[in-house]
Amino acid sequence: MNQDTDLPPASTPHSSLIDLRSDTVTQPSATMRDVMFSAKVGDDVYGEDPTLNELEQYTAQLLGKAAGIFLPSGTQSNLIAMLCHCARGEEIIAGDQYHTFLDEARGASVLGGTTLHPLSTDKLGRFELDALLDAIKPDDFHFPVSRLLSLENTVSGCVQDQTHLDTLADAAHTHGLSVHLDGARLMNAVIKQQSTPQALTANMDSVSLCLSKGLGAPVGSVLVGSTDFINRARRLRKMLGGGMRQAGMLAAAGLYALKNNLQSLAEDHEKASQLATALNQLNGLQVDMERVQTNMVFIKTQAADAAPLQDFMRQRGVIIGAQRNVLHRDISLDDVGKVIELFQQFYRRH
Ligand SMILES: Cc1ncc(COP(=O)(O)O)c(C=O)c1O
Repeated sequence: MNQDTDLPPASTPHSSLIDLRSDTVTQPSATMRDVMFSAKVGDDVYGEDPTLNELEQYTAQLLGKAAGIFLPSGTQSNLIAMLCHCARGEEIIAGDQYHTFLDEARGASVLGGTTLHPLSTDKLGRFELDALLDAIKPDDFHFPVSRLLSLENTVSGCVQDQTHLDTLADAAHTHGLSVHLDGARLMNAVIKQQSTPQALTANMDSVSLCLSKGLGAPVGSVLVGSTDFINRARRLRKMLGGGMRQAGMLAAAGLYALKNNLQSLAEDHEKASQLATALNQLNGLQVDMERVQTNMVFIKTQAADAAPLQDFMRQRGVIIGAQRNVLHRDISLDDVGKVIELFQQFYRRH
């Protein structure tokens, strides 16, 4: 199920609302807006935007790859990665709960003529090596050519075990597949594990990183990989209409986010943990504590409570997800306290 659309629309988005639907709702801070306003810009389709060039180089270096490309969204970044790795008729193997399989309108199939082979993931976002090995097709003209393993970290807020991901990547490489990582929230995994980005990406051929989720930039993702891969990505970006002009104003926000906002992810994780622990004590509501690893809290209410609970919260300035609730930099510790109090009030009355 699409976690981002399983929710009532926010008819009047306003900064005084406490919006728990997603970390994509974060607003650029005043300082970030200043940095955007004064960014040096040029025409990026000519390769002449200095701020954008800096963001691409900075991100590539951060993730240990040779080159990077700025893209308008995580969806376009994953799509371009999949189309760069795979030709028509070739196959992508991915987890069945991954964003690339569930929530990107199967663009890689529709636009690229590739097929997606989903592997059943458990609730923590994991599938086993045997499942991958079974899915990789032998060289037989009856089958599509298995060309790409597409991984994800975090998966719905769950940090993936790096040794396991590396084992999957090694197996894929051994069988001639490339490996892409949808790292929309990779920095949450880095911060949670007190690791380095490179340690999580060393075995990946390409990585997509989103700037507009917990990191707080308004727009954009960066795809990184080898120089040849990124050169091919540039042609696809142009083809898809993603070549932007003075996009340095957006890149400035991304650079600011990468340089200043990583540590606030740790605060998001702490807020998620506090919210989850408190809500889990309520009668009538369950929290899947095993899944509270970074900034997401999955709740389960009685079916009859779901809509009244959302309405009750909305009337009091809090937008919650029916299941997924996401902590982010625009929700303070005080806000978390207020949300907990409102949940307690609702369950006292019901
Ligand atoms: C794991 C994951 N990958 C990719 C994306 C796509 O990002 P965008 O919304 O920028 O297209 C999302 C969006 O929520 C996501 O959660």
